[in-house]
Amino acid sequence: MFPSSSSAAITLCIFALLFNGGCTLDLPKNVTVRAIFVFGDSIVDPGNNNKLNNTIAKCNFPPYGRDFPGGKPTGRFSNGKLATDFAAELLGVKELIPAYLDPTLQLQDLLTGVSFASGGAGYDPLTSRLASVYSMPDQLDFFKEYKEKIKSVLGEEQVASFLSKSLFLVCCGVNDISTTYRLRRAEYDIDSYADIIVSSASKFFQELYEAGARRVAVLGLPPVGCVPSQRTLFGGITRGCADDENHWALLYNSKLSAQIGPLKNSLPDLKIAYVDLYNPLLNIIQNPHKYGFEVENVSCCGTGRIEVTVLCNPATNTLSCPDASKYVFWDSYHPTEKAYKILTPILINQNAKELL
Ligand SMILES: *[C@@H]1O[C@H](CO)[C@@H](O)[C@H](O)[C@H]1NC(C)=O
Ligand SMILES: *[C@@H]1O[C@H](CO)[C@@H](O)[C@H](O)[C@H]1NC(C)=O
Ligand SMILES: *[C@@H]1O[C@H](CO)[C@@H](O)[C@H](O)[C@H]1NC(C)=O
Repeated sequence: MFPSSSSAAITLCIFALLFNGGCTLDLPKNVTVRAIFVFGDSIVDPGNNNKLNNTIAKCNFPPYGRDFPGGKPTGRFSNGKLATDFAAELLGVKELIPAYLDPTLQLQDLLTGVSFASGGAGYDPLTSRLASVYSMPDQLDFFKEYKEKIKSVLGEEQVASFLSKSLFLVCCGVNDISTTYRLRRAEYDIDSYADIIVSSASKFFQELYEAGARRVAVLGLPPVGCVPSQRTLFGGITRGCADDENHWALLYNSKLSAQIGPLKNSLPDLKIAYVDLYNPLLNIIQNPHKYGFEVENVSCCGTGRIEVTVLCNPATNTLSCPDASKYVFWDSYHPTEKAYKILTPILINQNAKELL
């Protein structure tokens, strides 16, 4: 079901790209999304790690953010906006999803949604601990603190209805599979490790439901074997996609998507959907020219082979590409703003009718 619905969305999008340079949205009529709340890892972290002192999983320095409004390195792991920012705009909520820990947040920012995500986090508690970043339970605690803040504004009885009309996006797991699993291979094979991660994910969705979420989009993993750093480390002399990692991601994705139906059936009034990120991004990587890209196997920042977070910095930037919009990847692990911009409507179209 997922591959076919996402390939339909991809076809629709390529078609739209050819004619008007952008993908059209396929939304139900009269959608109201009051706010968007985001949980997960660096794919969706707009800067929550900025104040953390013991992690390398941050990027609030140049050349990060060089194509962001004002050229500002906000802590987003890209050259510009993230998919969550584009989603907020396309759904008519606002232009950017800020970090919950941004000290300049205003009340209006809180009332239209924030991201609690933390780069380097995983569903496996060891993943977040190794990276010294906010774990998924930490993120949930921040959300509970958030609820207390808005209670005094909206009134206690309004909070549940406000949250039920909001959209929750969860994007996590890639660090478990690409990093922590390598450390845990002596204890687990990929099948049992994926089971553990998926059950931890499932517990997170239940707790999110208990905290008030009613419309939840769960992102699957990207084709992590095809990101430039993994090509360099595990892709052999030709720097092809690392097949093992893609296989692990696919196995995990199939187990994750199989959990969604049972959750929906067991939790009253919960709308929850699995969003396939793997195939849409792989399609871009395999057909870069069709989407207006020139390079998919190296990233823009530095040599494009390995630089990410602290290694993608003002010194290595002397080697960076002049125009990131020609590249699928900004650093050796994260897509460019342009790739996120193309992906966002494709991702929204998969499940908007179920969720909104
Ligand atoms: C559209 O949404 C508004 C606000 O939720 C609601 O009052 C109205 O009845 C809806 N209209 C239709 C046609 O569903
Ligand atoms: C990081 O270090 C600064 C300066 O020493 C300190 O003010 C801040 O509280 C620390 N942040 C955290 C999250 O510990
Ligand atoms: C990237 O792909 C192109 C086209 O297939 C190839 O010519 C080039 O050698 C690759 N570059 C690297 C660094 O892997």
